[in-house]
Amino acid sequence: MRVLHACSEVYPLLKTGGLADVTGALLPALARVGCDVRMVLPGFPSILAGIGPTREVVVLHDRFGADRVGLLLGQLPSGVPAYVIDAPALYAREGNPYADAGNTAYPDNYRRFGLLAWVAADLAAGLDPGWQAQIVHGHDWHAGLAPAYLKAWERANGKRAAASVLTVHNLAYQGVFDAGVFPELGLPADYFAMHGMEYYGQLSFLKAGLFFADKLTTVSPSYALEIQSPEQGCGLEGLLHDRASDLTGILNGVDYEVWSPAADELIAARYDASKPGGKKVCRRALQKAGSLRPQDNAPVFGVVSRLTEQKGLHLLLAALPAIVARGGQLVLLGSGDGWMEDAFREAALRYPGAVQVEIGYDEVRSHQIVAGADVILVPSRFEPCGLTQLYALAYGTLPLVRRVGGLADSVVDCTPATLADNSGTGFVFDEFSEAAFSLAVDRAFALYEAPAQWQQAQRNAMRAHFGWDDAARKMLPIYQRLLGQ
Ligand code: ADP
Ligand code: GLC
Repeated sequence: MRVLHACSEVYPLLKTGGLADVTGALLPALARVGCDVRMVLPGFPSILAGIGPTREVVVLHDRFGADRVGLLLGQLPSGVPAYVIDAPALYAREGNPYADAGNTAYPDNYRRFGLLAWVAADLAAGLDPGWQAQIVHGHDWHAGLAPAYLKAWERANGKRAAASVLTVHNLAYQGVFDAGVFPELGLPADYFAMHGMEYYGQLSFLKAGLFFADKLTTVSPSYALEIQSPEQGCGLEGLLHDRASDLTGILNGVDYEVWSPAADELIAARYDASKPGGKKVCRRALQKAGSLRPQDNAPVFGVVSRLTEQKGLHLLLAALPAIVARGGQLVLLGSGDGWMEDAFREAALRYPGAVQVEIGYDEVRSHQIVAGADVILVPSRFEPCGLTQLYALAYGTLPLVRRVGGLADSVVDCTPATLADNSGTGFVFDEFSEAAFSLAVDRAFALYEAPAQWQQAQRNAMRAHFGWDDAARKMLPIYQRLLGQ
């Protein structure tokens, strides 16, 4: 079956978060289970630079504010064929894919991602005479209009070009635009309605996808349920609840070719569950690189994260004095909200030798923290899936997480019972509060003082397996049903 994935990021060419890791690994996994899978991406500078040799499939004129749009076909480093939309007027910009260097969203994002969705839909309707998608699978609001374009095409032509799937990676980002731009999108007028893509008087690209896609998925079973409730539904819970029978939660996986301590060239020494010695070398290297005191008697906590409200890291700021007072250490790598960046920078100044903070984005360093820390902290307010805790498990670094979304689905709290049956892999707390977080931190300190139990939990963590092939095998029946197979 021919499946086209539409998205804005893909590892290793362009990554701002977990979305890129997912598209980078899910597509090769789908190819392994037999799908003829391709991707379509906007021609951001790093995508064009990394795609390798391409051929021009077609040239279009006057689309979404661009005079000339070239559709190129190349190949991702994984070997997956990828269409790239070469429209410099829309995509050749500084900053990240969504916002300028000052982090202000580009005002023409509705055109930039409208075009992505339009091309995706048209690749089902014959834009490339050599390959037509039977399923268009979009990711997040950036591809949210693709199912709407497909439904519009179906209405105009009296037959279906392709079925559609939308995967929600994060409901908090919805792609909401002023209603005045609707006519520019070229969709039927009646699509701007409550039963359509209207969202409190505005346009929502995500709602378009959630309403028009034939099937919906999200990135963990728990999140699939959570987003049907007002607390986490971001105003879309009613629609999601109505569509519950079309919505499946499939947990993301780990690309073990990128994240395996036994083969990782980015870390100070290699190790695995049967030969764990290298982890100590990584720990010491991490302390040294961060000018932390070389200590072994209390845990090193690590954070690799976007510094946004979602990630709940103000709980860590509140607990930090107690962590340091007990001899614990913190290494944090992240970037995001200015006030949080400042607060962590100040903490590093206040606790030299115990707290090291790096504001920025650094792929190599992220591996070194995941390998060298004892505990990875992910105290999220909400978390659709979360990948850092999955990577931490693979490296025998025990995740300390809130019981929410994919964190709840992937980490098993260490209790006397789960330590006895060798299933405990980390520390899980329920209530989103400083007190509950601190109690979990206390439990991490306590377990650290029982080395035999700690090492058992590390072995449990390293043995837990979250392969992409499992996720691909769960996606396949959704595709098959859509094609009546
Ligand atoms: P989200 O997508 O919500 O940010 P995930 O846990 O799903 O959260 O994925 C985050 C991904 O981005 C992981 O691969 C993580 O290692 C990476 N990451 C986050 N912040 C940084 C950073 N400052 N430097 C390097 N990698 C980072
Ligand atoms: C989003 C979510 C994160 C998830 C990632 C990949 O960025 O915030 O929880 O792991 O997408 O699906």
